[in-house]
Amino acid sequence: MSDRAVMLAKLTELEQEHAKAVAGGGPKYTDRHRKRGKLLARERIELLLDEGSPFLELSPLAAWGTDYPVGASVVTGIGHVEGVECLIVANDPTVRGGASNPWTLKKIFRANDIALENRLPVISLVESGGADLPSQKEIFIPGGRVFRDLTRLSKAGIPTIALVFGNSTAGGAYIPGMSDHVVMIKEQSKVFLGGPPLVKMATGEESDEESLGGAEMHARTSGLADYFAVDEHDAIRIGRRVVKRLNWRQHRPRASAPPKLNEEDLLDIVPSDLRIPFDPREVIKRIVDGSEFDEFKPLYGDSLVTGWASLHGYPIGVLANARGVLFSEESQKAAQFIQLANQTNIPLLFLHNTTGYMVGAQYEQGGIIKHGSAMINAVSNSTVPHLSVLIGASYGAGHYGMCGRAYDPRFLFAWPSAKSAVMGPAQLAGVLEIVARQAAASAGREFDEDSAIAMRMMVEQQIESESLPMFLSGRLYDDGIIDPRDTRTVLGICLDVIHGTEFRGAQGYGVFRL
Ligand code: COA
Repeated sequence: MSDRAVMLAKLTELEQEHAKAVAGGGPKYTDRHRKRGKLLARERIELLLDEGSPFLELSPLAAWGTDYPVGASVVTGIGHVEGVECLIVANDPTVRGGASNPWTLKKIFRANDIALENRLPVISLVESGGADLPSQKEIFIPGGRVFRDLTRLSKAGIPTIALVFGNSTAGGAYIPGMSDHVVMIKEQSKVFLGGPPLVKMATGEESDEESLGGAEMHARTSGLADYFAVDEHDAIRIGRRVVKRLNWRQHRPRASAPPKLNEEDLLDIVPSDLRIPFDPREVIKRIVDGSEFDEFKPLYGDSLVTGWASLHGYPIGVLANARGVLFSEESQKAAQFIQLANQTNIPLLFLHNTTGYMVGAQYEQGGIIKHGSAMINAVSNSTVPHLSVLIGASYGAGHYGMCGRAYDPRFLFAWPSAKSAVMGPAQLAGVLEIVARQAAASAGREFDEDSAIAMRMMVEQQIESESLPMFLSGRLYDDGIIDPRDTRTVLGICLDVIHGTEFRGAQGYGVFRL
């Protein structure tokens, strides 16, 4: 199969997994939801957003490979409402009543972090059975952060808006409680700390849902609702009006030249066998404005490509691995380049295809650790925004030096071709075998060659499956897997978002070991 065919097959597989998230709780629960005259989570989002504007969905495969449904019963993403870039969090009530499981929480926390860091107003489209009760031990204690985040966003001056479409009970009641602006819907919103059965148990009082927490009661009596909507469409209309009156910055598209080289070719560039090197300039030139890329130090440390470009009109510095391994020269070049970007206030884009820093006596003696440390120091202390895209391998400390998830890039996406782990599966299985062989020798035991072969295969398979993007995306180690052809659009949205806040290049770093 050609590399393109392999990439297309991976994209088909990805589409099937995305379809699972879109299907929510499946036909039974979706039909029931519709029969109740309600809109689905994604329909609510679509109506809320400006017509024809893009929606950058985040973590769509959250919970993939876990015991919970793909998508984690919530939809999050960035879109335009009345020209304002907003972060949207919409419960999917067709999945276990929209209840939050551990992955729902992780997905919402990530969304809140993005909102806080990039100063995006947050719109919660609420309809949830609260905590997923069977998994309460994993969510009750950390789950409190959902409400803390909302009030901290508000303190930071970032507006929070709750449109309550249905159940928002018990802890969930604090979502409207902690939001700056609250819209409730006639005979649909249910917001109470305890429903009628719980009240009966606690105090013996007889009550009904409307008097305990209906929209009318909250709009007229308790004051928890600021706006009373007659139906879902009305709530969405009011939500849009609220955003319009926020006096928040409006997104203005920038003029830019599209790449001269065809973005369609991005499907052909990454070999299906990641051991085969490829030239990342072929990727860069298909995502940056006018395919114009001014390379920095092209003749030095040439297994890392560095240089300047613009993307959707925004200047960027790019670091892209060329032949996989990072040597001392590449590390020093990266550290210097990152400092230059900070001097000139230019965001950085990291395109990963690295097997890590070079090992071996010659390189150790040449100071690979201190040079790699300099790169990691520069990445860690750089204060211009970072974007990371895993296009190929992202192994070992190379993942860190190239601004992996733990280094807080503003956004991190993966191509279907990506793989990430502490090292490659074959290397890891081989290392384990050598260690086992040595342990047997020092204990005077015979080494069982047959079971070693079986073990090696098993470990390789396990590590391979744990290195794949869906597995990593399921664990929220990225913000989503994207079609290579969408890279420019996705990064363009991210750069729009990033430029909504002031940023300044670093004034200082950790001590560089020379
Ligand atoms: N945890 C785990 N599963 C839940 C759940 C929760 N909090 N809420 C609902 N579910 C499950 C239901 O058991 C049901 O599963 P099943 O179809 O396999 O039997 C499915 O989700 C759909 O729930 P259902 O009650 O049929 O949906 P509904 O739309 O009629 O009502 C709620 C939704 C949320 C109003 C209702 O399920 C409810 O009151 N849940 C409990 C709410 C609560 O007290 N949560 C505690 C908050 S801390």
